[in-house]
Amino acid sequence: MKKVISVVGARPNFMKVAPIHRAFEKYPNIEHFLVHTGQHYDKNMSDAFFQDLEMPHPKHFLSVGSGTHAQQTAKVMVEFERILELEKPDLVIVVGDVNSTVACSLTAVKLHIPVAHVESGLRSGDREVPEEINRLVTDSICDIAFVTEESGKRNLLNENYPEKNIHFVGNTMIDSQHFALRKLAGNNVLERLGLTSKGYVLSTVHRPSNVDNKEQMSDLLDIFELISKRRTVVIPMHPRTKKNIENFGLTEKLESIENLVITEPLGYLDFLNLMKNCDFVMTDSGGIQEETTALGVDCITIRTTTERPSTIELGTNILVQPNKNDIEKAVNRYLSGDRKDGSIPYLWDGNAAERIAEVISNRLSESK
Ligand code: UD1
Repeated sequence: MKKVISVVGARPNFMKVAPIHRAFEKYPNIEHFLVHTGQHYDKNMSDAFFQDLEMPHPKHFLSVGSGTHAQQTAKVMVEFERILELEKPDLVIVVGDVNSTVACSLTAVKLHIPVAHVESGLRSGDREVPEEINRLVTDSICDIAFVTEESGKRNLLNENYPEKNIHFVGNTMIDSQHFALRKLAGNNVLERLGLTSKGYVLSTVHRPSNVDNKEQMSDLLDIFELISKRRTVVIPMHPRTKKNIENFGLTEKLESIENLVITEPLGYLDFLNLMKNCDFVMTDSGGIQEETTALGVDCITIRTTTERPSTIELGTNILVQPNKNDIEKAVNRYLSGDRKDGSIPYLWDGNAAERIAEVISNRLSESK
């Protein structure tokens, strides 16, 4: 029997790992379980996803919580090392680019435990964004690189990563989307929020570069106001954004805007349903760029760069520089119905996790 641990820590990890767990159920000689670092701990940033994605409870919960980057990363490392000493797994799977991803990779490789990185090779080229550092470090030490798109493979080869360890398998986040689309029939989020299909714009912003600066945050509120004159704007608000709006004294400004529907962070099914039925999305998220591309829903991404170029080259995503003038222009264009066409990137077909499980199973049987 071989033992494989998948690490989850923050919200965007859950949908990437759920299909991997399901795929391993077909391998009776592999014991697969989850370790949750507790980077995200609020009920609606974490628990809701386990239910919606039908994931088993993690075997270990590390309760790491928030802190500075160094504090959070260090705490994850100390706690995860204890779990690795206890469980002695044959392989660790990490996904995405959050602090838990880099912390657990580093801990495992130092104990000579092989690490597989799912969503490897993505690069924005912007080292001021914390996730870019997490991606660079994780990829430079992982043993198996699973890539979601063509650029991932290209970037790894440019960094001299061994080609034999790169596997272009597709996107497990889209596996979860396929799984959840089949469960949407009973979801009533539109009724609950008083919305009609295509009658609203869905927006999420939480990147430090957009919400940690008062002027930028205030400009974004002006953009919400602009959109709200033509459509309802639905904003499931990330705790970081909420806290900053309060700390910057912008709560009154936010509350003065009519036609906004502000909610707590939503569960996976609610959010998917909102994405599927909205007129368009405005975001700074990594994953939502991919999810909208897979759904064929228009998406404006407010960032200087993206690590997911296939969503722009092939998909429905456009990148808009994070200044008021450029965002206004893009929003006005989209409100007047001027949009772009998109197609779905190669292997975003709902079966990526099965390919991953097969590669890992083969690798573990070689290492008998
Ligand atoms: C993290 C990831 C980011 C991902 C995002 C999704 C890193 C570096 N960043 O950013 O890539 O897009 O998750 O949400 O790993 N907080 C709560 N409750 C929670 C979690 C956080 O209130 O359950 C608050 C805390 O005040 C915390 C702040 O949100 O300080 C930020 O949380 P943190 O985990 O540091 O980063 P995110 O901005 O969530």
